[in-house]
Amino acid sequence: MVRRSVVAGSGSYLPARVLTNDELARQVDTSDAWIVERTGIRQRHVAADGELTSDLAVRAAQAALDKAGFGADAVDMVLVATSTPNETFPATATIVQAQLGMHRGLAFDIQAVCAGFVYGVATADNFIKAGQVDTVLVIGAETFTRILDWTDRSTCVLFGDGAGALVLQAGVGEGTVADRGVLSSHLYSDGRHHDMLYVDGGPSSTGKVGVLKMAGRDVFKHAVIKMAEATEAALSANELQAADVDWFVPHQANRRIIDGTTKKLGLDREKVVITVDRHANTSAASIPLALAEAAGDGRIERGQLVLIEALGGGLAWGSNLIRW
Ligand code: ACO
Repeated sequence: MVRRSVVAGSGSYLPARVLTNDELARQVDTSDAWIVERTGIRQRHVAADGELTSDLAVRAAQAALDKAGFGADAVDMVLVATSTPNETFPATATIVQAQLGMHRGLAFDIQAVCAGFVYGVATADNFIKAGQVDTVLVIGAETFTRILDWTDRSTCVLFGDGAGALVLQAGVGEGTVADRGVLSSHLYSDGRHHDMLYVDGGPSSTGKVGVLKMAGRDVFKHAVIKMAEATEAALSANELQAADVDWFVPHQANRRIIDGTTKKLGLDREKVVITVDRHANTSAASIPLALAEAAGDGRIERGQLVLIEALGGGLAWGSNLIRW
């Protein structure tokens, strides 16, 4: 018998304000046609003035707890994957912890940019498998629109705000791929690629927050290759084939990256969950937003095999294979 981290609930939250491509085209030299053709993005949500990453995270976490049927007092650990924390410190996770009314346990942030949620699931799973905690809230939450250069058309059209959350709870399995829960996680990073995708500020360098800088074409190439490798690692570690996957829930950066990875893996397009058209790239929030949507509308069912993967700044990337 082995300890497994089993999904008990999922939830998400999107800010009310929707910014369409046409609206953006009135601010920068772009067009709905260009953005849709190159990225598949049609709109993004933007947090209201005064609406913080922690506010988005709390709404998503509460929705996931409601689905799980738990109160926040049942949670031992809160992880918030984010690159847009409320403040330089403390961890946004501790703010979420307080706002959920949790007065025990531990909370900390995970910084792996767009791969943050995949890193968060892996971290939660390892804490659960080690027997250190039983119940974890893994949240991806971002106000990415606040670190964009709104005069740079090559980046500002790509991102949006939002949050998603999973409740993972300790369960017992047989140690086979038939078990419910996280079956394996595969994490990677390569800091030599810093210049491909970064924010040009921070407390130790400029003393300012900075804005996102990206070499889009280079990121695109690495994304397809590395995300396909991470998903292949997940399948081979579990002696599974692409055909065994019920749902592929990739990081939602760009429709063409998703299509490229899907093709490279030989996955059925019908099994891919897509939200990038409506959410754009919400970095660490994109996968839990997509999971909550597909679980909420009944596509992802209990017992199905779900493969998630992401790549982002660092570069950092990885995958998790989960039996829902
Ligand atoms: N509207 C109109 N024209 C634009 C825009 C825009 N928003 N942005 C760039 N262009 C122009 C460029 O200026 C260039 O014009 P030029 O030929 O006159 O110089 C032309 O379009 C082509 O630019 P490219 O950068 O070569 O366009 P490309 O086809 O590579 O598409 C894109 C750019 C969409 C950014 C693509 O490279 C991409 O998706 N890269 C992946 C980046 C990504 O998704 N990053 C997210 C973070 S990482 C992650 O989450 C995986």
